[in-house]
Amino acid sequence: MKTYQFPEGFLWGGATAANQIEGGFHEGNKGLNIADVLPGGKERLSILQSPGFNFEIDPEKDYPNHEAIDFYHRYKEDIALFAEMGFKVFRMSIAWTRIFPNGNELEANEEGLAFYDRVFDELHKNGIEPVVTISHYEMPLNLVKEYGGWRNRKVVTFFERYVNAIFHRYKNKVKYWMTFNEINSGFIMPIQGLGFAIQTEEDKYKPTFQAFHHQFVASAIAVKACHDIIPGAQIGCMILYAPVYSYDSNPENVMYALQEERMFNYFCADVQVRGEYPAFIKCYFDELKIELDIQEGDLELIKEGTVDYVGFSYYMSRTEKKEKTDIENSEGNLIGGVKNPFLKASDWGWEIDPEGLRISLNQLFDRYQVPLFVVENGLGAYDKVEEDGSINDDYRIDFLRNHIKAIGEAIEDGVELMGYTSWGCIDLVSASSGEFSKRYGFIYVDKHDDGSGTLARKKKKSFFWYKDVIATNGERL
Ligand code: BG6
Repeated sequence: MKTYQFPEGFLWGGATAANQIEGGFHEGNKGLNIADVLPGGKERLSILQSPGFNFEIDPEKDYPNHEAIDFYHRYKEDIALFAEMGFKVFRMSIAWTRIFPNGNELEANEEGLAFYDRVFDELHKNGIEPVVTISHYEMPLNLVKEYGGWRNRKVVTFFERYVNAIFHRYKNKVKYWMTFNEINSGFIMPIQGLGFAIQTEEDKYKPTFQAFHHQFVASAIAVKACHDIIPGAQIGCMILYAPVYSYDSNPENVMYALQEERMFNYFCADVQVRGEYPAFIKCYFDELKIELDIQEGDLELIKEGTVDYVGFSYYMSRTEKKEKTDIENSEGNLIGGVKNPFLKASDWGWEIDPEGLRISLNQLFDRYQVPLFVVENGLGAYDKVEEDGSINDDYRIDFLRNHIKAIGEAIEDGVELMGYTSWGCIDLVSASSGEFSKRYGFIYVDKHDDGSGTLARKKKKSFFWYKDVIATNGERL
Protein backbone atom coordinates (compact mmCIF):
# COMPACT_ATOMS: atom_id res chain seq x y z
CA MET A 1 0.00 0.00 0.00
CA LYS A 2 1.24 3.47 -0.81
CA THR A 3 2.51 5.43 2.18
CA TYR A 4 2.50 9.18 2.65
CA GLN A 5 5.04 11.60 4.06
CA PHE A 6 3.51 14.10 6.43
CA PRO A 7 5.72 17.04 7.39
CA GLU A 8 7.69 16.87 10.59
CA GLY A 9 5.77 18.54 13.41
CA PHE A 10 2.44 17.97 11.66
CA LEU A 11 -0.32 18.91 14.12
CA TRP A 12 -2.40 15.78 14.58
CA GLY A 13 -5.31 16.01 16.95
CA GLY A 14 -9.02 16.31 17.45
CA ALA A 15 -11.59 19.09 17.46
CA THR A 16 -14.56 20.13 19.60
CA ALA A 17 -16.52 23.21 20.62
CA ALA A 18 -17.34 24.37 24.14
CA ASN A 19 -21.12 24.26 23.72
CA GLN A 20 -21.02 20.71 22.36
CA ILE A 21 -18.92 19.18 25.13
CA GLU A 22 -18.80 21.25 28.30
CA GLY A 23 -22.24 21.23 29.84
CA GLY A 24 -22.21 23.10 33.18
CA PHE A 25 -24.35 25.64 31.39
CA HIS A 26 -25.11 27.59 34.57
CA GLU A 27 -21.91 26.91 36.45
CA GLY A 28 -19.11 29.34 37.14
CA ASN A 29 -21.45 32.31 36.45
CA LYS A 30 -21.76 31.34 32.80
CA GLY A 31 -24.49 33.19 30.92
CA LEU A 32 -26.82 31.65 28.35
CA ASN A 33 -25.72 31.46 24.76
CA ILE A 34 -27.40 30.51 21.50
CA ALA A 35 -26.69 26.79 21.85
CA ASP A 36 -28.41 26.77 25.24
CA VAL A 37 -31.77 27.60 23.68
CA LEU A 38 -31.61 25.12 20.80
CA PRO A 39 -33.64 21.99 21.49
CA GLY A 40 -32.39 18.52 20.62
CA GLY A 41 -33.60 16.25 17.87
CA LYS A 42 -34.43 16.64 14.20
CA GLU A 43 -36.45 19.78 14.96
CA ARG A 44 -33.18 21.67 15.44
CA LEU A 45 -32.21 21.75 11.79
CA SER A 46 -35.52 23.22 10.72
CA ILE A 47 -35.22 25.85 13.48
CA LEU A 48 -31.79 26.72 12.16
CA GLN A 49 -32.95 27.00 8.59
CA SER A 50 -36.42 28.54 8.82
CA PRO A 51 -37.63 31.94 9.95
CA GLY A 52 -39.29 32.79 13.21
CA PHE A 53 -37.17 31.39 16.04
CA ASN A 54 -37.73 33.26 19.33
CA PHE A 55 -34.58 32.21 21.28
CA GLU A 56 -36.62 31.15 24.33
CA ILE A 57 -36.28 28.00 26.45
CA ASP A 58 -39.46 25.90 26.33
CA PRO A 59 -39.82 23.89 29.57
CA GLU A 60 -41.43 21.06 27.58
CA LYS A 61 -38.32 20.45 25.48
CA ASP A 62 -34.88 18.91 25.98
CA TYR A 63 -31.75 21.00 25.69
CA PRO A 64 -28.83 18.61 25.17
CA ASN A 65 -26.13 21.27 25.32
CA HIS A 66 -26.98 22.03 28.96
CA GLU A 67 -25.15 18.96 30.20
CA ALA A 68 -23.53 17.88 26.91
CA ILE A 69 -20.86 15.30 27.82
CA ASP A 70 -19.87 17.10 31.00
CA PHE A 71 -16.36 18.01 29.88
CA TYR A 72 -16.68 20.86 32.38
CA HIS A 73 -16.12 18.35 35.17
CA ARG A 74 -14.40 15.54 33.29
CA TYR A 75 -11.78 17.40 31.28
CA LYS A 76 -8.88 15.71 33.07
CA GLU A 77 -10.09 12.24 32.16
CA ASP A 78 -10.76 13.30 28.55
CA ILE A 79 -7.42 15.03 28.10
CA ALA A 80 -5.66 11.93 29.44
CA LEU A 81 -7.39 9.90 26.71
CA PHE A 82 -6.36 12.43 24.03
CA ALA A 83 -2.81 12.19 25.31
CA GLU A 84 -2.98 8.41 25.14
CA MET A 85 -3.82 8.73 21.44
CA GLY A 86 -0.77 10.97 21.08
CA PHE A 87 -2.59 14.21 20.19
CA LYS A 88 -0.23 17.06 19.43
CA VAL A 89 -3.08 19.58 19.48
CA PHE A 90 -6.62 19.81 20.77
CA ARG A 91 -9.03 22.18 19.09
CA MET A 92 -11.60 23.65 21.46
CA SER A 93 -13.50 26.88 21.79
CA ILE A 94 -13.82 29.30 24.65
CA ALA A 95 -17.46 29.87 25.55
CA TRP A 96 -17.80 33.65 25.29
CA THR A 97 -20.48 33.56 28.03
CA ARG A 98 -18.09 32.03 30.55
CA ILE A 99 -15.92 35.12 30.16
CA PHE A 100 -18.66 37.73 29.60
CA PRO A 101 -21.93 36.11 30.71
CA ASN A 102 -24.12 38.73 29.01
CA GLY A 103 -21.58 39.80 26.45
CA ASN A 104 -21.70 43.47 27.41
CA GLU A 105 -20.11 43.58 30.89
CA LEU A 106 -17.08 45.76 31.44
CA GLU A 107 -15.18 43.20 33.49
CA ALA A 108 -14.44 39.59 32.62
CA ASN A 109 -15.76 36.80 34.83
CA GLU A 110 -12.86 35.39 36.85
CA GLU A 111 -14.45 31.96 37.32
CA GLY A 112 -14.73 31.48 33.58
CA LEU A 113 -11.16 32.61 32.96
CA ALA A 114 -9.91 30.27 35.68
CA PHE A 115 -11.72 27.30 34.13
CA TYR A 116 -9.82 27.64 30.84
CA ASP A 117 -6.58 28.18 32.76
CA ARG A 118 -7.14 24.76 34.27
CA VAL A 119 -7.94 23.19 30.87
CA PHE A 120 -4.90 24.73 29.14
CA ASP A 121 -2.63 23.71 32.03
CA GLU A 122 -3.94 20.17 31.88
CA LEU A 123 -3.35 20.05 28.12
CA HIS A 124 0.21 21.27 28.51
CA LYS A 125 0.84 18.82 31.31
CA ASN A 126 -0.08 16.15 28.77
CA GLY A 127 2.07 17.58 25.99
CA ILE A 128 -0.87 18.91 23.97
CA GLU A 129 -1.11 22.42 22.47
CA PRO A 130 -4.56 24.03 22.46
CA VAL A 131 -5.95 25.40 19.20
CA VAL A 132 -8.65 27.82 20.27
CA THR A 133 -11.69 29.02 18.35
CA ILE A 134 -12.80 32.34 19.77
CA SER A 135 -16.41 32.09 18.64
CA HIS A 136 -18.01 28.77 17.79
CA TYR A 137 -21.82 29.17 17.51
CA GLU A 138 -21.85 30.46 21.09
CA MET A 139 -22.89 34.09 20.96
CA PRO A 140 -24.19 35.43 24.30
CA LEU A 141 -27.98 35.25 24.23
CA ASN A 142 -28.22 38.76 25.60
CA LEU A 143 -26.43 40.09 22.52
CA VAL A 144 -28.88 38.21 20.33
CA LYS A 145 -32.00 39.38 22.11
CA GLU A 146 -31.08 42.91 23.08
CA TYR A 147 -28.83 43.87 20.19
CA GLY A 148 -29.96 41.72 17.26
CA GLY A 149 -26.74 39.71 16.96
CA TRP A 150 -24.00 40.66 14.53
CA ARG A 151 -26.27 43.08 12.66
CA ASN A 152 -25.53 45.54 15.43
CA ARG A 153 -22.24 47.41 15.28
CA LYS A 154 -22.06 47.58 19.09
CA VAL A 155 -21.33 43.86 19.15
CA VAL A 156 -17.93 44.57 17.58
CA THR A 157 -16.98 46.55 20.70
CA PHE A 158 -18.13 43.77 23.00
CA PHE A 159 -16.17 41.23 20.97
CA GLU A 160 -13.08 43.43 21.15
CA ARG A 161 -13.35 43.46 24.93
CA TYR A 162 -13.69 39.68 24.93
CA VAL A 163 -10.68 39.01 22.71
CA ASN A 164 -8.50 41.42 24.65
CA ALA A 165 -9.42 39.68 27.88
CA ILE A 166 -8.57 36.21 26.58
CA PHE A 167 -5.40 37.20 24.72
CA HIS A 168 -4.00 38.91 27.83
CA ARG A 169 -5.00 36.09 30.11
CA TYR A 170 -3.78 33.21 27.94
CA LYS A 171 -0.85 34.83 26.18
CA ASN A 172 1.54 32.29 27.65
CA LYS A 173 -0.75 29.32 27.11
CA VAL A 174 -2.24 29.48 23.62
CA LYS A 175 -0.38 30.05 20.38
CA TYR A 176 -2.93 28.82 17.79
CA TRP A 177 -6.16 30.77 17.45
CA MET A 178 -9.11 31.02 15.08
CA THR A 179 -11.68 33.80 14.95
CA PHE A 180 -15.16 32.66 13.82
CA ASN A 181 -16.03 29.02 13.31
CA GLU A 182 -17.34 28.37 9.79
CA ILE A 183 -17.95 32.06 9.29
CA ASN A 184 -19.66 31.42 5.92
CA SER A 185 -22.23 29.16 7.58
CA GLY A 186 -24.04 32.43 8.31
CA PHE A 187 -25.50 31.98 4.81
CA ILE A 188 -27.20 28.69 5.67
CA MET A 189 -27.60 28.81 9.46
CA PRO A 190 -27.68 32.50 10.41
CA ILE A 191 -28.90 31.78 13.92
CA GLN A 192 -25.67 30.02 14.83
CA GLY A 193 -23.35 32.01 12.60
CA LEU A 194 -24.69 35.56 12.71
CA GLY A 195 -26.76 35.54 15.86
CA PHE A 196 -30.09 36.38 14.33
CA ALA A 197 -33.02 34.54 12.85
CA ILE A 198 -33.97 35.40 9.30
CA GLN A 199 -37.56 36.65 9.54
CA THR A 200 -38.17 38.10 6.09
CA GLU A 201 -36.82 37.57 2.58
CA GLU A 202 -35.22 41.00 2.89
CA ASP A 203 -33.07 39.79 5.84
CA LYS A 204 -31.10 37.63 3.43
CA TYR A 205 -29.61 40.67 1.81
CA LYS A 206 -28.48 43.82 3.58
CA PRO A 207 -28.84 42.56 7.20
CA THR A 208 -26.93 39.37 6.41
CA PHE A 209 -24.07 41.15 4.66
CA GLN A 210 -24.02 43.89 7.30
CA ALA A 211 -23.61 41.19 9.95
CA PHE A 212 -20.78 39.65 7.93
CA HIS A 213 -19.15 43.07 7.63
CA HIS A 214 -19.20 43.47 11.39
CA GLN A 215 -17.63 40.04 11.77
CA PHE A 216 -14.89 40.95 9.29
CA VAL A 217 -14.10 44.10 11.28
CA ALA A 218 -14.19 42.08 14.51
CA SER A 219 -11.94 39.42 12.99
CA ALA A 220 -9.41 42.03 11.87
CA ILE A 221 -9.42 43.58 15.34
CA ALA A 222 -8.79 40.14 16.83
CA VAL A 223 -5.94 39.39 14.42
CA LYS A 224 -4.20 42.66 15.18
CA ALA A 225 -4.69 42.30 18.93
CA CYS A 226 -3.43 38.73 18.84
CA HIS A 227 -0.27 39.74 17.01
CA ASP A 228 0.32 42.66 19.40
CA ILE A 229 -0.37 40.79 22.61
CA ILE A 230 1.05 37.36 21.76
CA PRO A 231 4.10 37.70 19.53
CA GLY A 232 4.66 34.51 17.56
CA ALA A 233 1.03 33.37 17.82
CA GLN A 234 -0.83 32.34 14.69
CA ILE A 235 -4.44 33.25 14.10
CA GLY A 236 -6.56 31.92 11.27
CA CYS A 237 -10.00 32.24 9.81
CA MET A 238 -12.24 29.19 9.70
CA ILE A 239 -14.57 28.38 6.84
CA LEU A 240 -16.95 25.61 5.96
CA TYR A 241 -15.47 24.40 2.68
CA ALA A 242 -17.36 22.17 0.30
CA PRO A 243 -16.07 22.18 -3.27
CA VAL A 244 -18.85 22.83 -5.76
CA TYR A 245 -18.91 20.55 -8.80
CA SER A 246 -20.91 21.19 -11.91
CA TYR A 247 -23.41 18.41 -12.49
CA ASP A 248 -22.18 18.08 -16.09
CA SER A 249 -20.17 19.88 -18.73
CA ASN A 250 -23.02 22.15 -19.77
CA PRO A 251 -21.34 25.57 -19.53
CA GLU A 252 -24.47 27.03 -17.92
CA ASN A 253 -24.14 24.56 -15.07
CA VAL A 254 -20.40 25.12 -14.85
CA MET A 255 -20.98 28.87 -14.48
CA TYR A 256 -23.71 28.32 -11.92
CA ALA A 257 -21.43 26.05 -9.87
CA LEU A 258 -18.69 28.66 -10.05
CA GLN A 259 -21.02 31.39 -8.79
CA GLU A 260 -22.21 29.26 -5.91
CA GLU A 261 -18.65 28.33 -5.07
CA ARG A 262 -17.45 31.92 -5.03
CA MET A 263 -20.26 33.15 -2.84
CA PHE A 264 -20.32 30.30 -0.36
CA ASN A 265 -16.74 29.09 -0.18
CA TYR A 266 -14.73 32.18 -0.98
CA PHE A 267 -16.52 35.40 -0.11
CA CYS A 268 -15.62 35.41 3.59
CA ALA A 269 -12.16 33.92 3.21
CA ASP A 270 -11.32 36.40 0.43
CA VAL A 271 -12.00 39.26 2.83
CA GLN A 272 -10.21 37.67 5.77
CA VAL A 273 -7.16 36.43 3.87
CA ARG A 274 -6.71 39.09 1.19
CA GLY A 275 -8.02 41.94 3.28
CA GLU A 276 -10.53 43.27 0.78
CA TYR A 277 -13.97 42.65 -0.61
CA PRO A 278 -13.65 40.68 -3.86
CA ALA A 279 -14.81 42.15 -7.16
CA PHE A 280 -17.64 39.67 -7.61
CA ILE A 281 -19.32 40.71 -4.36
CA LYS A 282 -19.11 44.38 -5.25
CA CYS A 283 -20.96 43.61 -8.48
CA TYR A 284 -23.52 41.60 -6.55
CA PHE A 285 -24.09 44.48 -4.12
CA ASP A 286 -24.49 46.90 -7.04
CA GLU A 287 -26.93 44.65 -8.78
CA LEU A 288 -29.09 44.19 -5.68
CA LYS A 289 -28.58 47.77 -4.50
CA ILE A 290 -27.11 46.62 -1.19
CA GLU A 291 -25.33 49.49 0.50
CA LEU A 292 -23.46 48.46 3.60
CA ASP A 293 -22.80 50.79 6.50
CA ILE A 294 -19.04 50.86 6.40
CA GLN A 295 -17.44 53.20 8.91
CA GLU A 296 -14.37 55.26 8.25
CA GLY A 297 -11.31 53.13 8.84
CA ASP A 298 -13.10 49.78 8.48
CA LEU A 299 -11.59 48.90 5.12
CA GLU A 300 -8.09 49.86 6.26
CA LEU A 301 -8.54 47.75 9.37
CA ILE A 302 -9.68 44.77 7.31
CA LYS A 303 -6.61 45.23 5.11
CA GLU A 304 -4.29 45.28 8.11
CA GLY A 305 -5.90 42.42 10.00
CA THR A 306 -5.46 39.55 7.57
CA VAL A 307 -5.19 36.05 8.97
CA ASP A 308 -2.07 33.89 9.13
CA TYR A 309 -3.66 30.68 7.92
CA VAL A 310 -6.91 29.24 6.61
CA GLY A 311 -8.59 26.71 8.89
CA PHE A 312 -11.48 24.85 7.34
CA SER A 313 -13.93 22.07 7.92
CA TYR A 314 -14.46 19.44 5.27
CA TYR A 315 -17.30 16.95 5.38
CA MET A 316 -18.70 16.78 1.86
CA SER A 317 -18.74 18.22 -1.61
CA ARG A 318 -21.69 19.76 -3.37
CA THR A 319 -22.92 19.20 -6.91
CA GLU A 320 -24.84 21.96 -8.64
CA LYS A 321 -27.14 22.31 -11.61
CA LYS A 322 -28.86 25.51 -12.65
CA GLU A 323 -32.30 24.00 -13.15
CA LYS A 324 -32.86 21.39 -10.50
CA THR A 325 -36.42 20.40 -11.31
CA ASP A 326 -35.74 17.11 -13.09
CA ILE A 327 -33.36 15.50 -10.65
CA GLU A 328 -33.45 14.74 -7.01
CA ASN A 329 -32.10 17.22 -4.53
CA SER A 330 -29.28 15.96 -2.41
CA GLU A 331 -31.38 15.41 0.65
CA GLY A 332 -29.56 16.04 3.89
CA ASN A 333 -26.49 17.59 2.29
CA LEU A 334 -26.60 20.65 4.53
CA ILE A 335 -25.36 22.96 1.84
CA GLY A 336 -27.84 21.94 -0.83
CA GLY A 337 -27.15 20.91 -4.41
CA VAL A 338 -28.21 17.82 -6.32
CA LYS A 339 -27.33 14.17 -5.79
CA ASN A 340 -23.92 13.22 -7.10
CA PRO A 341 -24.32 9.83 -8.84
CA PHE A 342 -20.72 8.90 -7.99
CA LEU A 343 -20.99 9.34 -4.23
CA LYS A 344 -22.54 7.52 -1.31
CA ALA A 345 -23.89 9.39 1.67
CA SER A 346 -23.75 9.03 5.46
CA ASP A 347 -26.84 8.09 7.47
CA TRP A 348 -27.56 11.81 7.66
CA GLY A 349 -27.31 12.26 3.89
CA TRP A 350 -23.89 13.97 3.88
CA GLU A 351 -22.13 12.84 0.70
CA ILE A 352 -18.83 11.09 1.32
CA ASP A 353 -16.07 12.33 -0.96
CA PRO A 354 -12.43 11.92 0.11
CA GLU A 355 -11.11 13.09 -3.28
CA GLY A 356 -13.06 16.29 -2.66
CA LEU A 357 -10.73 17.01 0.24
CA ARG A 358 -7.70 16.80 -2.03
CA ILE A 359 -9.49 19.10 -4.47
CA SER A 360 -10.37 21.53 -1.66
CA LEU A 361 -6.81 21.66 -0.38
CA ASN A 362 -5.48 22.37 -3.85
CA GLN A 363 -8.10 25.00 -4.60
CA LEU A 364 -7.61 26.81 -1.31
CA PHE A 365 -3.83 26.77 -1.54
CA ASP A 366 -3.85 27.90 -5.17
CA ARG A 367 -6.10 30.80 -4.27
CA TYR A 368 -4.56 32.02 -1.03
CA GLN A 369 -0.98 30.73 -0.84
CA VAL A 370 -1.06 30.67 2.96
CA PRO A 371 -0.78 27.59 5.19
CA LEU A 372 -3.95 25.56 5.55
CA PHE A 373 -5.25 23.64 8.55
CA VAL A 374 -7.95 20.96 8.29
CA VAL A 375 -9.63 21.65 11.61
CA GLU A 376 -12.74 19.48 11.13
CA ASN A 377 -13.44 16.30 9.23
CA GLY A 378 -15.27 13.18 10.28
CA LEU A 379 -18.17 10.80 9.93
CA GLY A 380 -21.32 11.15 12.01
CA ALA A 381 -22.58 7.58 12.44
CA TYR A 382 -24.63 5.32 14.71
CA ASP A 383 -22.33 3.20 16.88
CA LYS A 384 -23.20 -0.09 18.51
CA VAL A 385 -21.74 -1.28 21.80
CA GLU A 386 -21.30 -5.05 21.49
CA GLU A 387 -22.06 -7.44 24.31
CA ASP A 388 -18.39 -7.67 25.18
CA GLY A 389 -18.29 -3.86 25.40
CA SER A 390 -16.32 -3.31 22.18
CA ILE A 391 -17.28 -0.73 19.56
CA ASN A 392 -16.12 -1.80 16.13
CA ASP A 393 -16.38 1.37 14.09
CA ASP A 394 -14.62 0.17 10.95
CA TYR A 395 -16.81 2.50 8.84
CA ARG A 396 -15.31 5.48 10.70
CA ILE A 397 -11.78 4.15 10.24
CA ASP A 398 -12.43 3.73 6.50
CA PHE A 399 -13.80 7.24 6.22
CA LEU A 400 -10.89 8.83 8.05
CA ARG A 401 -8.27 6.67 6.34
CA ASN A 402 -9.52 7.69 2.91
CA HIS A 403 -9.60 11.35 3.85
CA ILE A 404 -6.13 11.28 5.38
CA LYS A 405 -4.85 9.58 2.22
CA ALA A 406 -6.38 12.42 0.21
CA ILE A 407 -4.49 14.85 2.44
CA GLY A 408 -1.29 12.89 1.77
CA GLU A 409 -1.93 13.27 -1.96
CA ALA A 410 -2.51 17.00 -1.56
CA ILE A 411 0.76 17.36 0.32
CA GLU A 412 2.44 15.62 -2.64
CA ASP A 413 0.67 18.15 -4.86
CA GLY A 414 2.58 20.86 -2.99
CA VAL A 415 -0.06 22.08 -0.56
CA GLU A 416 1.27 23.53 2.69
CA LEU A 417 -0.69 22.07 5.56
CA MET A 418 -0.24 22.69 9.29
CA GLY A 419 -2.29 19.85 10.66
CA TYR A 420 -5.41 17.77 10.92
CA THR A 421 -7.91 17.72 13.77
CA SER A 422 -10.74 15.30 13.21
CA TRP A 423 -14.11 16.51 14.37
CA GLY A 424 -15.69 15.27 17.57
CA CYS A 425 -12.69 13.24 18.71
CA ILE A 426 -14.91 12.39 21.65
CA ASP A 427 -18.67 11.89 21.08
CA LEU A 428 -20.54 15.14 21.56
CA VAL A 429 -23.81 16.93 20.83
CA SER A 430 -24.44 17.37 17.11
CA ALA A 431 -24.60 21.04 16.14
CA SER A 432 -27.23 20.67 13.44
CA SER A 433 -29.44 17.99 14.95
CA GLY A 434 -28.77 18.20 18.69
CA GLU A 435 -28.45 14.41 18.77
CA PHE A 436 -26.01 12.32 20.76
CA SER A 437 -26.64 9.38 18.45
CA LYS A 438 -24.81 11.14 15.61
CA ARG A 439 -21.41 10.11 16.87
CA TYR A 440 -18.01 11.19 15.53
CA GLY A 441 -15.68 10.11 18.31
CA PHE A 442 -12.74 7.83 18.86
CA ILE A 443 -14.07 7.84 22.41
CA TYR A 444 -17.62 6.67 23.04
CA VAL A 445 -19.66 8.55 25.62
CA ASP A 446 -22.55 6.77 27.27
CA LYS A 447 -25.12 9.49 26.69
CA HIS A 448 -28.26 9.14 24.58
CA ASP A 449 -30.83 11.21 22.77
CA ASP A 450 -33.35 10.86 25.59
CA GLY A 451 -30.78 12.31 28.01
CA SER A 452 -30.07 8.98 29.72
CA GLY A 453 -26.60 7.48 30.18
CA THR A 454 -23.81 7.30 32.71
CA LEU A 455 -21.47 9.61 30.77
CA ALA A 456 -18.81 6.88 31.04
CA ARG A 457 -16.09 7.01 28.37
CA LYS A 458 -15.04 3.98 26.32
CA LYS A 459 -12.37 3.55 23.62
CA LYS A 460 -13.66 2.58 20.18
CA LYS A 461 -11.66 0.53 17.69
CA SER A 462 -10.83 3.79 15.87
CA PHE A 463 -9.09 5.02 19.05
CA PHE A 464 -6.31 2.48 18.57
CA TRP A 465 -6.18 3.04 14.83
CA TYR A 466 -5.78 6.83 15.18
CA LYS A 467 -3.16 6.37 17.90
CA ASP A 468 -1.12 4.35 15.42
CA VAL A 469 -1.63 6.93 12.65
CA ILE A 470 -0.23 9.65 14.90
CA ALA A 471 2.61 7.48 16.21
CA THR A 472 3.77 6.81 12.63
CA ASN A 473 3.14 10.43 11.52
CA GLY A 474 0.61 9.18 9.00
CA GLU A 475 2.76 6.47 7.51
CA ARG A 476 0.58 3.63 8.72
CA LEU A 477 -2.99 4.22 7.74
C1 BG6 B 1 -19.43 21.87 11.72
C2 BG6 B 1 -19.43 22.59 13.03
O1 BG6 B 1 -20.41 22.41 10.94
O2 BG6 B 1 -19.78 20.54 11.66
C3 BG6 B 1 -19.50 21.70 14.24
O3 BG6 B 1 -18.35 23.48 13.13
C4 BG6 B 1 -20.41 20.55 13.95
O4 BG6 B 1 -19.89 22.47 15.34
C5 BG6 B 1 -19.83 19.72 12.80
O5 BG6 B 1 -20.69 19.74 15.04
C6 BG6 B 1 -20.61 18.50 12.45
O6 BG6 B 1 -21.94 18.81 12.25
P1 BG6 B 1 -23.10 18.07 13.03
O7 BG6 B 1 -24.32 18.81 12.68
O8 BG6 B 1 -23.09 16.68 12.55
O9 BG6 B 1 -22.77 18.18 14.48
